[in-house]
Amino acid sequence: MFTYSIQTHIAFGDGATHHLPEHLVAQGFGRRLLLVTDPGLVQAGVAERIADLLTRSGFVPRMFAEVRPNPDEAVCLAGRDAFLEHRADGVVAVGGGSSLDAGKAIALLARQGGTPSDYALGRRPYGPPAPVCAVPTTAGTGSEVTRSAVITEQGTHRKLTLKHEVLRPPLAVCDPALTASLPPSVTAHTGVDALVHAIEGATCKGAHPIARAYAREALGLIYPALPRAVHAGDPAARRDMLLGSLLAGLAFGSTDVASVHCLAEALGSLYDTPHGLANAVMLLPTLRYNRPYAAEAYAWVARAMGLAREEDGDEGAAEALLEGLRTWLDDLGIPKLRDLPGAKPSDFDQLATLAYENTSTPSNPRPMDVRDYRAVLELAYAD
Ligand SMILES: [Fe+2]
Repeated sequence: MFTYSIQTHIAFGDGATHHLPEHLVAQGFGRRLLLVTDPGLVQAGVAERIADLLTRSGFVPRMFAEVRPNPDEAVCLAGRDAFLEHRADGVVAVGGGSSLDAGKAIALLARQGGTPSDYALGRRPYGPPAPVCAVPTTAGTGSEVTRSAVITEQGTHRKLTLKHEVLRPPLAVCDPALTASLPPSVTAHTGVDALVHAIEGATCKGAHPIARAYAREALGLIYPALPRAVHAGDPAARRDMLLGSLLAGLAFGSTDVASVHCLAEALGSLYDTPHGLANAVMLLPTLRYNRPYAAEAYAWVARAMGLAREEDGDEGAAEALLEGLRTWLDDLGIPKLRDLPGAKPSDFDQLATLAYENTSTPSNPRPMDVRDYRAVLELAYAD
């Protein structure tokens, strides 16, 4: 048994941003908008261009550009205050996963009150948020079509996952041109995050045929496109990456992620490691650890990526996946765990506990306890 629903209106294509005002009108957004973004996009002139476009089309945008990587509860509460002061009708979130997730949380807090931890810890019921239009500027997060937002808890630095169908944005405007100026390292890290979404979304417990259909398409796009996007930055590769990231979001957005993400979020909590980089570092060791429990699923992934043929046996295909990923990650310049700033074995117990407490742990194909997570961290550190 599975359920599936998606109510996001998606506009995808080069120059899609130019039509943002029309899409907002068509989806019934009010005139007063809070533009949630980060300082980098202000510096690059992207946020201003979008604000000008909205103003020229009769909207009244107010800029809230305080989102940082791994956004915390405080920035969401500040965004809520800005939303209420502006008497905004809706949110336009422009940026990577941090800005999109913060925008979704701000829209919820503005309409339903409380703090992010109130929702993530079940102290407050979810209700309809203000409408959100998500405009991704990285190809990785998939947050433009998912029902979750990851926010860092104030004080503890734990990752809180807000997850409810009401958080799925009603509108996503995906313009590959917005990803054109991403530096190679950010392209690589966010792109691997998208691949992990497709792998985990299709192989976690609770994966279903609709998620696998999206994931298969995503894997076929991302695997060849990411090295081209990183090394050459050609527009076709950028387009494939944004589409692959969107499709991967549609895959895991109706199932779950699994232990790669649990470990990545633990690294993000302790070291503030950017989400994509943390996922990229933990991908291979986690798949190696899971493999005895997931050979058939990983063989399916290998075939979707073109690393194995239909007639190859599952064990051989799963091995081909791990071999192929190792070469691919090396080519993308992904570092090892021991090279991550701050990472050290004396933190492994804390990291393993944080990963274990992640709400996606039960979705991993291999049952995981704290010792299992420690074993993966040791495997990663020894690599
Ligand atoms: Fe992710």
